[in-house]
Amino acid sequence: MNYKDDKLFIGGVGVQALVEEFGSPLYVYEEDTIRERVRELVRAITYSPKEIKYACKANTNIEIMRILCEEGAGIDAVSPGEIRAALTAEFAPARILFTANNVPWEEIEYAVQRGVMVNIDSLACLRRFGDTYPGGEVCVRINPNVGAGHHNHVITGGPESKFGIPHYKAEEINNTARERGLKIRGIHQHIGSGILSADSFIKAVKVLLDVASGFQDLSFVDFGGGIGIPYREKEKRIDIVKLGTLIAEEFSAFCDSCGKKLALLIEPGRYIVAESGFLLARVTAVKEGEKHRFVGVDTGFNHLLRPAMYGSYHRILHGGKNNGERVPQVIAGYLCESGDAFTRDENGIVDRELPVFEEGDIVCICNAGAYGYSMASQYNSRPRPAEVIVKHGEARCVRRRETLDDIFESSEVERR
Ligand code: LLP
Repeated sequence: MNYKDDKLFIGGVGVQALVEEFGSPLYVYEEDTIRERVRELVRAITYSPKEIKYACKANTNIEIMRILCEEGAGIDAVSPGEIRAALTAEFAPARILFTANNVPWEEIEYAVQRGVMVNIDSLACLRRFGDTYPGGEVCVRINPNVGAGHHNHVITGGPESKFGIPHYKAEEINNTARERGLKIRGIHQHIGSGILSADSFIKAVKVLLDVASGFQDLSFVDFGGGIGIPYREKEKRIDIVKLGTLIAEEFSAFCDSCGKKLALLIEPGRYIVAESGFLLARVTAVKEGEKHRFVGVDTGFNHLLRPAMYGSYHRILHGGKNNGERVPQVIAGYLCESGDAFTRDENGIVDRELPVFEEGDIVCICNAGAYGYSMASQYNSRPRPAEVIVKHGEARCVRRRETLDDIFESSEVERR
């Protein structure tokens, strides 16, 4: 993304042209950024064998998943829908891991029938799996009692977390598996999302490796995802080379001590796709309120939930102005809730100094590639936007805009 003569371009295509061709609001992804991020991770982890399992909950656009398949990634899936998306994107079942937290049994069967390994989240599920598929192979999720993340909602390790089997229950896990002839091929953890410092990640790596030493049949250890990206203008990037090297060093030492060269897995979502994505919208109304200048746009938290859900900060750019005057403004959505604003924190709306927006201008919300479309809804009975991938000055639509018919398709009344 860059400005030329005060006009914003994404992947070499002007945002004005994008909105004219594909409509507004619109999700736009830069293909090169996605490829760069995954390659960067592969280089940073100076150990092999390894696999970057893309956590596709961040973005299940099939075309993006195909790009990652081409790059040699695997998939972390959490639902039959995500398994289906991965298979459609032509990932081999052996490259998909199904992480199953509190899922109904039929979902486990769905995965097994398709040759996808299940990452088991509780002792009860491990027992049932062993009783149903004696001699099977599984991965087991451990809670290492270390948690981290950008918001309470996304911390998944530690004493408050509903995920995984506590790290001190290795013996019970082993006994349960042995009694049923199950082979525990992998152990896994995911401590949280949006981690910007290597320390907590490495702390959890050490705990998991300690647990791993109690398992004899392992072929891989999966350290989960969670690597954060800088959302704010001045936020520092995580030192990915340092993180990758530290993980590799810990893992090599572990493999040396147990005399086996296991595979090292991580499963980032956000890090791979967040920065590639932009949500474009049009200014529909500008209004001077008592306390704020409100810039109303033709989208809302139905299409990008993160600011409303976590108070998350997303950089906002003007489609046709970069230099010049900046004034405090609130960028507000078109939904019928006062919390529907893109400039906000956890407590509510906040002004942001931005170039003056006028009716008809294009607003560009950055870092929307992860947990943007994948968390979008049809709230207020509004269709979801189209998705476009841009590369070297060319744009192609990879998911069409929904229509009102899409919204009502499943209604029995409408079908009568
Ligand atoms: N593995 C597992 C088992 C996970 O639960 C997650 C994310 C990931 C990997 C990938 O985490 P990442 O690398 O993307 O941080 N909606 C929230 C994020 C929720 C993440 C949930 N689990 C947000 O918008 O910040």
